Amino acid sequence: MEQTFVLLKPDALNKKIIGEVVSRFERKGLKIVGLKMIQLTDELCKAHYAHHATKSFFPGLKKFVCSTPVVCMVLEGKDAVEAVRKMCGVTNSREAAPGTIRGDYSLSVQSNIIHASDSLETAYKEIERFFSPSEVHEYTLELDKVAYADDERANRSKIKKR
Ligand code: RTP
Ligand code: MG
Repeated sequence: MEQTFVLLKPDALNKKIIGEVVSRFERKGLKIVGLKMIQLTDELCKAHYAHHATKSFFPGLKKFVCSTPVVCMVLEGKDAVEAVRKMCGVTNSREAAPGTIRGDYSLSVQSNIIHASDSLETAYKEIERFFSPSEVHEYTLELDKVAYADDERANRSKIKKR
């Protein structure tokens, strides 16, 4: 299993679709193992988007993501990083496929509802940045027994223990 980090941006909060987006992940079978609302600070935003710090859109992006609290999640599942990115759709919501989160809920590049880790390495770093170990929970659900074939479940876990 893998864990990935998701952040629901201020436009999701403004559009009052937090529940709908969370529900999509639940229905897909991803397990919510961390969930909280936080206000991004300048420092946290700079760390999270450090790779975009020199881009022209960065000041606008920072102002936007700090404009309201955001909802942060850790989702767990088989190949969760890639599965969640696919559910989000491409960065430009106008080009995101219908049925994806960005494709269904946004027409913007900047205000595109959601951030999701783009690789397993990034996921490890982002989960550590946003969640303390005690905020990421380990539990078993009845669904875990039927959600995967035995060989899928048996594959080695890629969850980083802290
Ligand atoms: P994210 O990091 O938020 O999951 O999005 P992403 O991987 O699909 O896109 P990325 O290239 O990493 O960009 C991060 C976020 O910056 C905003 N953005 N604005 N105005 C622009 O040209 C522009 N480009 C990117 C978006 O909010 C994007 O999700
Ligand atoms: Mg990105």
